[in-house]
Amino acid sequence: MSEGPEILFDARDVTVRFGGLTAVDAVNATFRAGELVGIIGPNGAGKTTFFNAISGVTPTTSGQLMAGGHALTGKGPHRFAAHGLARTFQTPRVFADMSVTANIEFGLAFAGRRRTASWLLRDASSILALTGLTAQAALPASSITPSQQRLLEIGMALATRPRLLLLDEVAAGLTEAEVEAMAQLIRRMRDELDLTVVWIEHAVSTLLRHVERVIVLHQGRKIADGTPAEVVRNAEVIEAYLGDEMSEPQPATQGAAA
Ligand SMILES: Nc1ncnc2c1ncn2[C@@H]1O[C@H](COP(=O)(O)OP(=O)(O)O)[C@@H](O)[C@H]1O
Ligand SMILES: [Mg+2]
Repeated sequence: MSEGPEILFDARDVTVRFGGLTAVDAVNATFRAGELVGIIGPNGAGKTTFFNAISGVTPTTSGQLMAGGHALTGKGPHRFAAHGLARTFQTPRVFADMSVTANIEFGLAFAGRRRTASWLLRDASSILALTGLTAQAALPASSITPSQQRLLEIGMALATRPRLLLLDEVAAGLTEAEVEAMAQLIRRMRDELDLTVVWIEHAVSTLLRHVERVIVLHQGRKIADGTPAEVVRNAEVIEAYLGDEMSEPQPATQGAAA
């Protein structure tokens, strides 16, 4: 497994326990430069806890975390961010009283001297254009819609100029058209911003049409890690979670990934 693009992030045997509950159970995952990886699993499978662990938000009970060859196990979220990791939260976290532009500028200030990966992230107005929030630039973040707040949170994460972007259920609660637009934005970020994207989504079918690799968590354990076509045929996945929802093949996947 040493061939292929540079390994940006490596999680080894990551376990997170809350008292007697093992929320994440010895999960291994490697994310390489330029990948778009999905993470799926039923409610309570440990998806968010895994993100919290690999972004330094929740301490791991055991296991190792490496970003670009640097050991980050036990470090706080700022150290993960300094190594190019950015994330969104399942419930968007924006500064409600600040304008949309000021929220983006906060992220840009955090990035400091870090080089711009793309002209699309040059300044606040270019990030607002990318995320489709130009018309809302001057509004307080509290006055935009929940789906626009999700876009703003993505913009804030992009403003820190990450190499690895973790998205936690950014399509939850969106209309069908908004979900498709979000998927297109995610594809575009990966394709045009030199980013690795890891995308958790509860709505499986959209995600499977857009990612090249999918990790399946169930009761804290990783039960599958492969292409969407492989995962939908995996007996343990079907039994544990997906059943009828995934029994139909998803023919668009391979073409879309090419
Ligand atoms: N801070 C916490 N304290 C105690 N239990 C938690 C905490 N966070 C999550 N859990 C539990 O860990 C399990 C995994 O939760 P979570 O990672 O949120 O799952 P998912 O995102 O896949 O729905 C659940 O049983 C949840 O109740
Ligand atoms: Mg979650």
